[in-house]
This record gives sequence, C-alpha cells and structure tokens, in this order.
Amino acid sequence: MRRILLALLATLPASFASAQEQASDTIAPEPATPVGASHAADSAISASLKAKESGKPVSAKNWMVAAANPLAVRAGADVLAEGGTAADAMVAVQTVLGLVEPQSSGLGGGAFLVWYDAKSGEVITLDGRETAPLQATPKLFLDDGGEPLKFFDAVVGGRSVGTPGTPMLMEEAHRRWGQANWAALFDDAIALAEDGFQVSPRMAASIAGDAERLSRYGNARDYFLPGGKPLSEGTVLKNAAYADTLRALAAAGAKAFYEGPIAADIVRTVREAEGNPGVLSLEDFETYEIKARPPVCVTYRAHDVCGMGPPSSGGLTVGQILKLVEPSDLAGLGSKSAEAWRLIGDASRLAFADRERYMADDDFVPVPVKGLVDEAYMAVRARLLETDKALETVEAGMPAFDHALNSYPRRADGEAVELPSTSHISIIDSYGNALSMTTTIENGFGSRLMVRGFLLNNELTDFSFRTHRDGVPVANRVEPGKRPRSSMAPTIVLKDGKPDFVVGSPGGSQIIGYVAQVIISRLDWGMDAQQAVSAAHLVNRSGPFDLEAGTDAEQLKTPLEALGYEVKIGDINSGLHAIAVTPDGLQGGADPRREGIALGE
Ligand code: GLY
Repeated sequence: MRRILLALLATLPASFASAQEQASDTIAPEPATPVGASHAADSAISASLKAKESGKPVSAKNWMVAAANPLAVRAGADVLAEGGTAADAMVAVQTVLGLVEPQSSGLGGGAFLVWYDAKSGEVITLDGRETAPLQATPKLFLDDGGEPLKFFDAVVGGRSVGTPGTPMLMEEAHRRWGQANWAALFDDAIALAEDGFQVSPRMAASIAGDAERLSRYGNARDYFLPGGKPLSEGTVLKNAAYADTLRALAAAGAKAFYEGPIAADIVRTVREAEGNPGVLSLEDFETYEIKARPPVCVTYRAHDVCGMGPPSSGGLTVGQILKLVEPSDLAGLGSKSAEAWRLIGDASRLAFADRERYMADDDFVPVPVKGLVDEAYMAVRARLLETDKALETVEAGMPAFDHALNSYPRRADGEAVELPSTSHISIIDSYGNALSMTTTIENGFGSRLMVRGFLLNNELTDFSFRTHRDGVPVANRVEPGKRPRSSMAPTIVLKDGKPDFVVGSPGGSQIIGYVAQVIISRLDWGMDAQQAVSAAHLVNRSGPFDLEAGTDAEQLKTPLEALGYEVKIGDINSGLHAIAVTPDGLQGGADPRREGIALGE
C-alpha cells in the first residue's frame, strides 16, 4: 500500500493565511517559502510552490491534481501515481482537507461534483448538498416578530446545520468511478490525524480571527483553542477522534456515518446546542441521498462549458455571464480594457438578477433551467449591454419555464448572505477522466459545532431567511428536505467533447465571478492556467464593482467610475484551482491567494 504521509508542512508564509476565513480574508499574498524537502514528494511540492510564486503553471503528461493544501494534494497525487482514478484521488484529497483545512470543508459538509467520463464521453454531476431537516419550518431563520435573524445568530449553533452530504458523495463517486481499494484511500488522512500535522499559517490565522465564536461550544473550543489560546502556526496537531471516524468510514462505508453512533452524536449535538438548537433528526440521515443530475452546459467560443445545475446557481449564472458577453469582442478589447469589464460586470449583474429571482432547489420549486440559458433569451438579454455606460437599472428577465405552467409564477427576490469560505479540487487522471468538485461547510468553521473530530456545516443559512415578500414567495426559501441554493461552480470546459479546462473556486457568491473570469481569461485572453488563476480580480454581483487591491485592477477604478459604477477596492480571496489541457500536456494553476498547489506527472 502507499507509503504513509508523515512529512509536515514546514514554513508556508503567514501571508497566505486568512485573518478570518468567513469574513474578509484580508491578507495579501507574498512569495511562498518551499516546504522542507526531505524526499522526492517534498521536492515536488517545493517545485510547485516555486512555480506558483513565479507565476508559472505546473506541467505534466499523465495526471494532475490541484487543491487547497499541499498535504491533501500529495495524498491525491499518491493515489493517481499508483493508477487510481480521479474519483479515488478525490477521496484521499477530501479526507486530508477535512483535517488540515477544517475551516473550509469536511465530513460534516456538502459538495458538488462534475465528472467527465473518458469511456463514455459523458459529463455527469453529483449533488451532495446538505438538506434542510424534515422538521424545519419556514420560521427557522425568523425571530418572534417575523424578521430575519442576524446572520451569525443563525449560523453559530445547531439551527444552521443541514444533513451532511460529503461522506455519501465520496462513496457514490468511488462506487461509480473508483477502482482503488476504498479503505486504503483513508490511510493518509488517518496517519496524519494520528501522527500529527503542522497547523498551516492560514488555518492558524483563521482560528485566531474566529476565536470568540469558536469558544462557544466545548469540542471546537478544546480542539482549536487549547488552554483558551488559538492554535498557533506550526503547532503539531493530532486529531484522534477524526482518525477513529475515518476508520469507521473506511471499514463500513458511508453507512457508518448515516446510521449508528456517528449520526446519533451529530443529531444530539445539534439538538442540544445551547442557546441555538437545531431540529435535525435521525430520519434526515436515513432519508439522505446523493442526486445524480444532468450538467448545465452552454457553448462559449466553440467550447462547451459544463457546470452544476440547481440547487447550485453556479452553472446557470456562470453560463449566463458567458452567453451575455459572447457577442462582444472581449479578445479584441483585452483584459485591461474598462469596456471589457463593463460588459462582464453588467452581464454579471443581469445574471445575478435572474439568479435571485429564479434559482433554487428545483426538486421543490420550478426553475426555468433551460430557459435561463436559452440562446434566444440570452440574445435578448445581451442586447441590454449594447450601450456605452453602466446599466442604470438591472432587473430579472422572463425566461421560459421548461414545463407548461398555468401562469407565470410570481416570485420575490430572496436575500441570502454568502461569505467567502469553501474549497475546490480539480483532478485529471491518467485514463482521461476529469473531476471538478467544490466542497464546503459554508462559513469558516461552519456552525462551530464539532463532533468526532470534524466540524458541522451551517449550510442552511444559504437559504433566504425571508420566505416571502408582500405575500409573494421566494424561490430559495426554507422547506423541509430542501437543499439550500449554492453559488458553487465546479466546471469542466470541453473542446470537441474532451476536457480542455477543469476549474472552480471557493468564495461565497463571488465564486461565480471568479469562475466566469478565469474561463474568459483562458478562452478570450489566451492566458495559461497559472496566469488565469493569478489574474487580478474584478467582480460585480449586483452592487459595486469590487476591484482587487494591490493589483493592476486598481487602474480601472477611474475609468469604471466614469462609466457610472460605484467602485470598491479591497482584498479578494478566491481559491481557484485549475487544470488546462494543452497540446503539450497538462497545465496546473493554484491560486496564489491561498496555500494550495498543483502536482502532476
Ligand atoms: N456555502 C457556499 C455555497 O454553497 O455557495
């Protein structure tokens, strides 16, 4: 079996850390210091960090994996090097991420996975999103007066916890596409949890920034704040409880999580959360299922861009942005042109207006999935961009619903707070399969409740807290068993039916802008995988234009203001991980704003 990972992250610079994962992630990147190179794998990690620092992509011929932490990437690389598939490698990456980047994703959360199957040429998506408890009512996030709760009053505690999907998603992906021994895929995470790993700068800064909230409930407090002090960078941290949980999953599969003592502990912890209990029950675990769904694909510049449909808004909103700018000559305008960013910014505003009105879990509310990216509808909406200044008003359009309805449904816009967190994994294996998976426990450290070595999500706060406006229902309102709308946008771009670009990012609702931008950077502006993920961000959801501080983007402040935008300059914390397929082989890019790398062979 694969050798066990013992090497520890030594000296990633503190500048890669976030001050607070769930909030503004304020620290700008500086050059990386390579990890201690004690053997060949460490040299590869070191080389990958150096490539990222110098803005160069990592190259490979056979396989590649890119994710948010070198230890997790190395676990996936070991699986791929031994002939495992992308689905096998994902299990190794996810289980290590849950240990070394616990603030972002893990067993207590959910994920969306887009898969390109080399044998069939098909793209399939798996929905491992959390579900609202069957006992949830529309009042879940309303106070006694019927007004929405304050965001963190809802988040911290049991109220926000949905039934986790990640353990079952790992099993389902392995069942469909894996070929390695299931139990062996947990070896690296178990070894790291037992022998210890060094707390990374980002994890340490995230803990320090969240210390007050992390101190509210016992297990998380004892783990992240031993002796009342936040864990510091470089501390060797063990997690025996997590190792035991992984052993149970390795031995019995996902049923070890959804039946028996683990599920019982989660339910008890949620229902007994002092001050803010939730209503999760064992029935939620018994009825939970992974849903295989068709991808949402749009054509863009002679490529097929395929992503995750509802309950994520990612695929549809990224797809709309691309379709809305497709009639424009972005290549001719170039990446530094204010006119190019006017087009992208207002395309994004139009897409976000539709998103707020129509997108939600379509097992519960009719969503015009085809209509939203229909060529004729997009052409009509794109005509709104035929002007020379910022749109003064932006409103949702009227896409055709997929099935005949008695009348066009009345829908009110929702309001869901989405702060940057989450993690993204991109993999291409030696068989030509591609996997793009965005994985999350929602807010940094999720609900702050910890059970058996992992954190529980707060995914339910991705619902609109308000269920109606003036009696008109919001699509993304809380309903029992429903999945909250997501912004996660795991994407596989195909050229002539084969993978061309695999990408995704964390970042709350900004994910959509990051992913649209990185695709435009590659397809319109010819950037390589590293250039595309490193490129300065400009993001417009529905308010001001957010420009990334300390980058070339700042030069567009005055021209964009002249076009009529309110402009805000600040730190922007994407975590893009991309793999491009080129005539010379695979090219990996890891976001310089975070600690991740790409490794390949
Ligand atoms: N909770 C992050 C997302 O689903 O978009």
